Amino acid sequence: MTALQAVPDVEPTEASRVNPREKTARRLLGSSAKNSYSPDLDIDWDAEPVEGMWHMQPERMSLYGTALWESLTQEQRVELSKHEVISVARVGLWFEILLMGMLASHAYNQDPASEHTQYALTEIGDETRHSVMFARWADKYGGVAYKPHPVVHHLGKVFRLVAPTGPSMWAATLVAEELLDRLQREGMADERMQPMSRMVSRIHVIEEARHVRFAREELVREMEKSHRGPVLWFHQVFAAAAAAIIAESIISPKVYESVGLDPKQAHRTARRNPEFQETKRWMGEKIVPFLDEVGMINPVARFIYRRAHLMS
Ligand SMILES: [Fe+2]
Ligand SMILES: [Fe+2]
Repeated sequence: MTALQAVPDVEPTEASRVNPREKTARRLLGSSAKNSYSPDLDIDWDAEPVEGMWHMQPERMSLYGTALWESLTQEQRVELSKHEVISVARVGLWFEILLMGMLASHAYNQDPASEHTQYALTEIGDETRHSVMFARWADKYGGVAYKPHPVVHHLGKVFRLVAPTGPSMWAATLVAEELLDRLQREGMADERMQPMSRMVSRIHVIEEARHVRFAREELVREMEKSHRGPVLWFHQVFAAAAAAIIAESIISPKVYESVGLDPKQAHRTARRNPEFQETKRWMGEKIVPFLDEVGMINPVARFIYRRAHLMS
């Protein structure tokens, strides 16, 4: 494992001594300097998968517990785990590119001398490396096509043009980051998993912990501002809709073709699978109550989170 770079500690500035926003940014900048990875060097991309090991935890897979799952051989289940984890990474990549745009817009409006802005720019650097890592991983296993549905892809294009800043930007970011974090945190500790899957997860979990901290604090600050009435309603519902789209998109129906299943039928089975619905609730277990606590969930948003199986 090679740290991307290592820089010595720098004396805190006056602003970071007194301003909590600057203080957090300073700490995150320090952590980024000491604990960042270069997936190009830190992952052995030529390594072949270890026969029989899972690419994703079987219990978190979309068909686990169904009759269709029972009909698959062990080899097919392991093969499907490779395609499902790549689909998750491919959707992660899609969102990260959107997030980089949002962070760039955020930084554009801030003082570049502030450590807060410098951290936002540093986070774009992390996400760039993650996106290349996910792209390379997907390419290795032939899963580059597992992008979100074309409608969602086009929605993303519109979103890039009209991306809201404010609470929904941070809430949507947190949902994407924390759903994936839950899955990867468990996966990186699972000894049944392929070494490459564990390493990708480990790199992502370590670096995303900073992003989550940054976004959580920004969301709290945003909610302390006076967002009221229809503006607040829009942010609440926009964030819930983004969360539902992300949760629905993580497993591309195309993955089922890899083991000879009918994609439509398998996708329908996965959507109705109570085990997979429970997995989604488990993925949302940390972030959704936080969004509720800070006032980001109104009755319409609650309905959307429930329909998406992200809360009970
Ligand atoms: Fe990332
Ligand atoms: Fe991130």
